[in-house]
Amino acid sequence: MTAPIGIFDSGYGGLTVFRSIVAKLPQYDYIYLGDNARAPYGNRSFDTVHEYTLDCVKWFFRMGCPLVILACNTASAKALRTIQQQDLPLLAPDKRVLGVIRPTAEVIGNYTRNHSVGVLGTVGTVKSDSYKLEIGHFFPNIKVQQQACPMWVPLIENGDYDSESADYYVKKYLDELLTQAPDLDTVLLACTHYPLLADKIRKYLPTGIAVVSQGDIVADSLSDYLRRHPEVEQCISATGKIDFYTTDSPEDFNEHGSLFFGRSVSSKHTEL
Ligand code: DGL
Repeated sequence: MTAPIGIFDSGYGGLTVFRSIVAKLPQYDYIYLGDNARAPYGNRSFDTVHEYTLDCVKWFFRMGCPLVILACNTASAKALRTIQQQDLPLLAPDKRVLGVIRPTAEVIGNYTRNHSVGVLGTVGTVKSDSYKLEIGHFFPNIKVQQQACPMWVPLIENGDYDSESADYYVKKYLDELLTQAPDLDTVLLACTHYPLLADKIRKYLPTGIAVVSQGDIVADSLSDYLRRHPEVEQCISATGKIDFYTTDSPEDFNEHGSLFFGRSVSSKHTEL
């Protein structure tokens, strides 16, 4: 019995990672779920993010998915460890749930020459210190300066990522980051929504600073994981089929989702 890989985000952001995964691994079947009805997760407590993420992971398991990717930094930072260590052994010991922070931390040190990286994320991701800890594990000599950008996801989810307000808030948070770490040469977009602001982010950063998105990093890491874990790979169906689900309006999801995914998206509503 084989089934699709589950890809999860609080909303649309995970689609920026999903498009890289599909480009790299088009042969597999996938189910994408955006919990748009309860997004954004970024300012919510640990307990709430865990509860919401676990609801979605259980939904994927009911759909049969043997492997779920949390394509959401906030969920990866605040819920993944508890799900892996506490919930999975009771719920579904044979299934796997992976996040986006560790694969990113494993390679981000290769982008910086100054050994100074800025991490832009939601309040939840920044407060968890997950990136500081994980990057420190793989690259102990790298200085990590984090900056929370609480207005960015609401602007993006509302379709206002090209507005004057977006310019204002992009400049504001980047100025705060650069004041803390004027020597940085690499900025990591540690929220899967932020690639939609990448042009504005580049506009307000001094030239020569690399802006790193996670999509290709996570796709490469997943490909490597499946090569190393044939026992998981053989449980995944491979007819190239993609299904999209949202906990909110499918019409809204289709309209906004296509911008994140880079091609048209046709979703269905689901209850969790
Ligand atoms: N896209 C999610 C992330 O990568 C966060 C969005 C939210 O605040 O719900 O962190």
